[in-house]
Amino acid sequence: MAAEEEEKRSYEERMSEEWLEDLKHLGTDANKDFLEIAPYLIVVFKRPFEYDKNGAKHQNYYVNESVGLACGTLISAIHNAGLVTLTHTPSPMRFLEKILNRPDNERAFLLLPVGYNAEKTYVPNIKRKPLNEIMKLY
Ligand SMILES: Cc1cc2nc3c(=O)[nH]c(=O)nc-3n(C[C@H](O)[C@H](O)[C@H](O)COP(=O)(O)O)c2cc1C
Repeated sequence: MAAEEEEKRSYEERMSEEWLEDLKHLGTDANKDFLEIAPYLIVVFKRPFEYDKNGAKHQNYYVNESVGLACGTLISAIHNAGLVTLTHTPSPMRFLEKILNRPDNERAFLLLPVGYNAEKTYVPNIKRKPLNEIMKLY
């Protein structure tokens, strides 16, 4: 699949030694089996601008912030429904615009594989930061 090919190229050619070193303890590599196993792949596109009926371009504002917030809500809704998902951003992602035939004012933003969790799932044994490390009360 195209996303897996891009991921393979990223790991082998695009990612820096430092990046690969930072990922080492997570045990990830270019194999993204979930892209083939998940029954649904949601591809989110952002629209940096619109065309009006005369074909003139009009800028949209706060596009990354808005689409990022919408994705957060979608991810929470997916989890709330008892399904699982994760955030995937193969780089570059523009092939998705081509293969999905999207108009030229859309840019691929995020890929979310969605489904039920696998019976046996292996995840790295890492902890989230405690609240007081990321939030300050005044
Ligand atoms: C915005 C974003 C994009 C990501 N893109 C990729 C990616 O393209 N490839 C990858 O292997 N991991 C990527 N990751 C990391 C994985 O999705 C990671 O397994 C996942 O965030 C862990 O899930 P959790 O945060 O629910 O524990 C990304 C994470 C974020 C937050």
